[in-house]
Amino acid sequence: MTTTPKSAAGRTDPSFTVPGLSTKDGGEVAAILQDRLNALNDLALTLKHVHWNVVGPSFIGVHTMIDPQVDAVRLMVDATAERIATLGVSPIGTPGALVAARSWDDYSLARAGTQEHLGALEMVYQGVLTDHRKAMESTEELDPVTQDLIIGQLEQLEQFHWFIRAHLESSGGTLSTQGQRAEQPAAAAAQQAEKGEAKE
Ligand SMILES: [Fe+2]
Repeated sequence: MTTTPKSAAGRTDPSFTVPGLSTKDGGEVAAILQDRLNALNDLALTLKHVHWNVVGPSFIGVHTMIDPQVDAVRLMVDATAERIATLGVSPIGTPGALVAARSWDDYSLARAGTQEHLGALEMVYQGVLTDHRKAMESTEELDPVTQDLIIGQLEQLEQFHWFIRAHLESSGGTLSTQGQRAEQPAAAAAQQAEKGEAKE
């Protein structure tokens, strides 16, 4: 009977990986990337959901801002999955596996005002970016080639996050979602700030 080597985390190491990298490290990098693949696939779907569900006077600006983000994130999904395959591991892209593996909740808003969606999206981007930065740090020693991929994605994602934040920022430089940690309260805070501005 042959045994397959298992890492400390319980995953199976690939039988081959990129030359110069141990199969153990290749498997570890692929596992980090699989989590990022789940996050990016989730983000692409969530952004489209927002694109379809924003309502209100600022609809068209937000609706059209989101599609280029979807296109860019889908390219990131493809590059991430293909890096996993390059490392000798099977990238998992099915929705059931994504939902089973993810550590975050489904996006919680359906039809809602533009500021509410932007407030909630601010939280979504915070989550993706925080974990992407952790992945950047944990791949630094293991595989700088993968780290380079993640750094490139971070630069784009951080800019998209700024596009969202620019809608929530006052001329004094504070965010209406400041201090919020969850989508619903962030959406409410963004909506409240919009109402406040309308009264002034
Ligand atoms: Fe569309």
